[in-house]
Amino acid sequence: MKNKEPIILAVVVFFTLVTYYLVEPYAHHVMHKHVESESFAYADLPAITKTGDAARGQDLVMGAGACVGCHAIEAAGMPAAMEPQMAAASYGVNPPDLSNAGVIYDARFLTDLIKNPAHALKVEHKFDADKGQMHPMVGFYGAGGDIDQEVADMVAYLQSIAVKPEAVTPALAYENACGRCHAMSYENWTQIGTKPKFKHEKDSLAFDIKVLEYQDSIKTYMGKLPPDLSMYIRSRNEQFISTLVENPQNHLAGTAMPRTGVTADTMDKVIEHMKDAGDTKRHKREEVGKTVMIFIVIFALFALLWKKQVWRDLH
Ligand code: HEC
Ligand code: HEC
Repeated sequence: MKNKEPIILAVVVFFTLVTYYLVEPYAHHVMHKHVESESFAYADLPAITKTGDAARGQDLVMGAGACVGCHAIEAAGMPAAMEPQMAAASYGVNPPDLSNAGVIYDARFLTDLIKNPAHALKVEHKFDADKGQMHPMVGFYGAGGDIDQEVADMVAYLQSIAVKPEAVTPALAYENACGRCHAMSYENWTQIGTKPKFKHEKDSLAFDIKVLEYQDSIKTYMGKLPPDLSMYIRSRNEQFISTLVENPQNHLAGTAMPRTGVTADTMDKVIEHMKDAGDTKRHKREEVGKTVMIFIVIFALFALLWKKQVWRDLH
């Protein structure tokens, strides 16, 4: 009789592959449309035409630009004017501290944001100035000179006070770019900051109340509470999260989540932080994976030798 083994093997392999294809690639492509990354280039925004002057930019940021009317800049000795939950009651969210805005956000994005926040953030469907729906961040109308030059000066100033890109830790990137909206309970992060270890239950509860007040404001502002991102690195893949951040409208048309305008480097760090929270065992897993592969190869070798030994006398 002819040897049927190769045919049986081919049939098994074929059905295994078909099942795999239907469960994995096919189901994914039906349920999640694939969005290509645009490499965080923000090519839809006007190119930068002016070279900024940081010293003039400082005067504008502190003066006519009015940035410090709403934002803290700790790096320049400008603390927040009010507590986060109070700021959120006024603006919907706490306007972020701008100490590191120059390194967290893309320069082209910042340039557009300063002049027209709703446009850069891609939330014009929610904030239509013609209908009197003003974005809580007021755009800069110019301080009397060439507005493009003035904006470039402010961006240059923000870049001059920021830490070097190497000094941006994953936590810093996350807290700046996402932290005012998204809690991350696995890292003890709330929208108003890291929850400290309190000695007294009373202080712990007082902190929780502030978080709840903050969340009430953001719910009203965004229409819903932005989800806790502790486990999102597991429930959504990296590619989804990074293309969502690059342009939320591509995945969730009409969503209230703004485009955050982060650089590609910041995004890598945000992902790293999300892995630190939701996938803490990943380094260990990769190590174990290697050991298991080596074990399987050696085991297969022995199995083969053993089979040969058993069948030798029977053939
Ligand atoms: C009237 C208050 C107000 C003023 C003035 C203001 N901002 Fe803002 N800014 C906000 C608020 C509120 C947000 C958060 C908006 C949101 O998350 O939807 C914000 C967000 C930002 C962000 C983060 C954007 C992002 O992508 O996450 C940056 C950077 C920023 N502002 C820079 C500036 C600069 C620079 C100036 C001065 C030219 C300025 N802002 C003036 C209220 C203000
Ligand atoms: C100004 C507030 C705000 C900021 C800043 C913000 N988000 Fe969001 N995000 C939202 C809101 C609101 C939703 C809910 C969107 C919806 O369901 O339409 C959301 C949803 C999400 C989701 C879930 C999407 C889904 O499929 O359910 C992820 C993931 C996410 N954001 C990641 C991020 C990351 C990463 C950052 C920082 C780089 C960030 N967000 C910054 C407001 C924000």
